[in-house]
Amino acid sequence: MSETTSPADARLPELVRSAREAMGRAYAPYSKFRVGAALVGRDGSVTQGCNVENAAYPSSICAERGALMAAVAAGVRRFDLLVLATESDDPAPPCGQCRQMLVEFAPSLPIVSVTRSGREQRWSLAELLPSAFIPTFLPPE
Ligand code: THU
Repeated sequence: MSETTSPADARLPELVRSAREAMGRAYAPYSKFRVGAALVGRDGSVTQGCNVENAAYPSSICAERGALMAAVAAGVRRFDLLVLATESDDPAPPCGQCRQMLVEFAPSLPIVSVTRSGREQRWSLAELLPSAFIPTFLPPE
């Protein structure tokens, strides 16, 4: 299995449906760019996320971090795969802030992004965020 594939790949059709369903619940009245995420836990759980924007623009949150926050709150901290759905023509990768939040929990997380037309691209988080700042750089307590 390569760096960009995961045991959860067998569930990809279901996961793409889940990410697209979440995208349908995005609240993006300002950018009009809807994003949905389906984050697969090592325990097999699937946590959905969507972007939720705000009139105070920087208060908005991305789909990926929404999913991550919900999964951690549910007690899931290890992840096998992240599936993203957008309506763009090219598969969109996670933004820098989301990459940084994800690397804390899953440094080599496989990520699949699908477009409206079904185009698909894969990355490993390790390739999207090389030389990441991770907890081991912090001084010991
Ligand atoms: N967005 C995401 O949800 N995930 C990303 O990785 C990129 C950007 C959202 C944030 C904002 O609501 C909209 O897309 C436009 O940037």
